[in-house]
Amino acid sequence: MPDTPIIAQLPRLDLPAVQALAAPEMAAMDALIRRRLASDVVLINQVAEYIIGAGGKRLRPMLLLLAAGALGHRGPDTHQLAAVVEFIHTATLLHDDVVDESDLRRGRSTANAVWGNAASVLVGDFLYSRSFQLMVELDQLEVMRILADTTNTIAEGEVLQLLHVRNPNTDEAAYLRVIERKTAVLFAAATRLGALLAGADASTCDAMHTYGLHLGYAFQIADDVLDYASDAVTLGKNLGDDLGEGKATLPLIHAMQHSDAATQTVLREAIQHGDTAAMPQVLAAIEFCGSLDYSRARAQQHASDAEAALSALADNEHVAALRGLASYAVSRDH
Ligand code: IPE
Ligand code: IPE
Ligand code: MG
Ligand code: MG
Repeated sequence: MPDTPIIAQLPRLDLPAVQALAAPEMAAMDALIRRRLASDVVLINQVAEYIIGAGGKRLRPMLLLLAAGALGHRGPDTHQLAAVVEFIHTATLLHDDVVDESDLRRGRSTANAVWGNAASVLVGDFLYSRSFQLMVELDQLEVMRILADTTNTIAEGEVLQLLHVRNPNTDEAAYLRVIERKTAVLFAAATRLGALLAGADASTCDAMHTYGLHLGYAFQIADDVLDYASDAVTLGKNLGDDLGEGKATLPLIHAMQHSDAATQTVLREAIQHGDTAAMPQVLAAIEFCGSLDYSRARAQQHASDAEAALSALADNEHVAALRGLASYAVSRDH
């Protein structure tokens, strides 16, 4: 019999195990965030401390640190770029909550609910520009190129999404174009940057990018399911924000396409008017069409694609952690 090599793969780590593995690096990154958040403008400190101090899952910096670790690298440069990625993410959240008129985030009133839209937008700008100050300190042109492209693409994604608001004809392809830009590219940048700092070759950097991109798709689709299927205490955000804003996400798009004409009219008007009073009918349609299960299956496919990209890497505990995060992205409850 020919020898078939059996490639033993470490089992996926569950979230607590991933967090334990990443804890020392995450603590160093967090300390750096605290040090570099400071401004002598009091309102900036208040708002930035308020949202960053509320925690959040810190998933994007964790991805960067784990990607670097998977390729045998750790060090201050990874802490610094992980902080950059979290600052960019936090800036987008400050802006997003203004645009979405959301009033709950990370289990707290949003910054816009507490200080108003102007303060949120301006402190978001502060965090963006602070992230660029931190990034430039590393003095690596490729890092700057990736992050400049990524932030620009995120901004395009947010504007593209705005163009689809209250448009009941938004289809799955248009939805995917939006979530790639507004969410997936930052995940991809995080994992690519981890590989880049580790000195990985181009194909390994590309594999890490592909992993992050698919993880980002999976993560955002799961988020859009949770907006219909969680509860505010668990989620730390209000449910129904997407419908209230007239945002057609995957569950609603699927229900639109699989409902009878009368239900389609109800859904169409709910999207056009951002009408949360229609939520019971919308939920009934989503339930009847199996739209949450469909969306979860789409998210699961992206999580599997993310894992598949990791097969290009030599296996180790950090890679097992990245595999674990792929399943966490779709099974999470907040
Ligand atoms: C929220 O991201 C925005 C989306 C892309 C859905 P997270 O769910 O990672 O938010 P925090 O940082 O944990 O609060
Ligand atoms: C993610 O979209 C927004 C960003 C990528 C900034 P959502 O609007 O769904 O995010 P949440 O649900 O408010 O966190
Ligand atoms: Mg939002
Ligand atoms: Mg959401």
